[in-house]
Amino acid sequence: MGEWVKGKIIENKQWNDRLFSLKVEAATKGFKAGQFIRVSMEIDGERVGRPYSCVNTPTEQPFEIYFNIVHEGPLTPLLAKLQAGDELSVWDTVNGLLTVEDVPEAKHLWMFATGTGLGPFLSIMKTAASYEKFEKFVLVHAVRTAEELTYQDSINSILKQYSDSVVYVPIVSREDHSDGLRGRIPDLIKSGELESKVGLTLSTAESHVMLCGNSGMIQDAIVTLGERDMVKHTRKEPGQISMEKYH
Ligand SMILES: Cc1cc2nc3c(=O)[nH]c(=O)nc-3n(C[C@H](O)[C@H](O)[C@H](O)COP(=O)(O)OP(=O)(O)OC[C@H]3O[C@@H](n4cnc5c(N)ncnc54)[C@H](O)[C@@H]3O)c2cc1C
Ligand SMILES: NC(=O)c1ccc[n+]([C@@H]2O[C@H](COP(=O)([O-])OP(=O)(O)OC[C@H]3O[C@@H](n4cnc5c(N)ncnc54)[C@H](OP(=O)(O)O)[C@@H]3O)[C@@H](O)[C@H]2O)c1
Repeated sequence: MGEWVKGKIIENKQWNDRLFSLKVEAATKGFKAGQFIRVSMEIDGERVGRPYSCVNTPTEQPFEIYFNIVHEGPLTPLLAKLQAGDELSVWDTVNGLLTVEDVPEAKHLWMFATGTGLGPFLSIMKTAASYEKFEKFVLVHAVRTAEELTYQDSINSILKQYSDSVVYVPIVSREDHSDGLRGRIPDLIKSGELESKVGLTLSTAESHVMLCGNSGMIQDAIVTLGERDMVKHTRKEPGQISMEKYH
């Protein structure tokens, strides 16, 4: 149950011609780091609503969402044009199972994001309570080109604050770059390059994996992790892999 409430745009940050972060003030119910809100706009007389992961923590206001323009989609081209003071609607109830609370006990939490799938992991990593559950966090952000390695200020401040607990690995697939790795997440798991870069092993004994973003990456990563006996996690049947598919 829930209802649409008024949301006011506080800021529209444009990272490049297709990546945007919107800060939205709205009176919603509480949420957990890693969950998503729904935002909607009236388009040709019809309400068009879509889910977006919260980048902010449960104690931070306003809400922040991170998205890319999908040119053939109805909502994102309009979201990209919103400016401070404009309004949209926000569903007042927040949902989602990509949360620390929904993950079974593990030593290491690996977070694999493609593109805008980075958002929920920033919320989790900025939330102090997350650090009570795991010894180490590995944040892997895979993008096509290095200029899409966004949120560097937030990531650097997380790395500074939780330096003993967090490893960050940027992955760029379509050009060389000086830090991180080149390629795709499943291939870099298979080759062992990712684990050797991180200095930890992905295993059923020690790891839980969260996947977020492109469904192709999620599908391929599940196959690769399956070769190590890691399986999808549900509340009914505990496993080592949790996920949120964006597209
Ligand atoms: C639980 C959940 C959380 C989500 N959180 C985010 C988020 O934090 N940030 C975000 O950018 N997106 C997120 N999405 C996707 C988002 O809800 C929209 O689908 C997307 O922003 C496109 O909206 P649209 O109305 O313009 O096009 P849509 O009508 O939604 O989609 C048009 C087509 O584009 C595909 N598509 C959807 N998203 C993308 C994308 N990012 N890149 C390429 N193709 C895409 C769809 O599969 C569809 O075929 C989430 C989706 C889900 C299910
Ligand atoms: N990024 C851009 O410059 C750009 C420009 C214009 C339009 N778009 C469109 O915007 C949408 C989103 O693009 P995006 O770049 O943000 O996200 P994306 O297509 O999901 O790519 C993000 C990262 O995920 C990787 N990836 C894709 N499929 C994978 C798979 N099956 N297994 C593992 N890794 C996989 C990509 O590697 P690969 O590079 O190897 O695919 C890339 O490193 C796409 O529909 C795209 O066509 C993107």
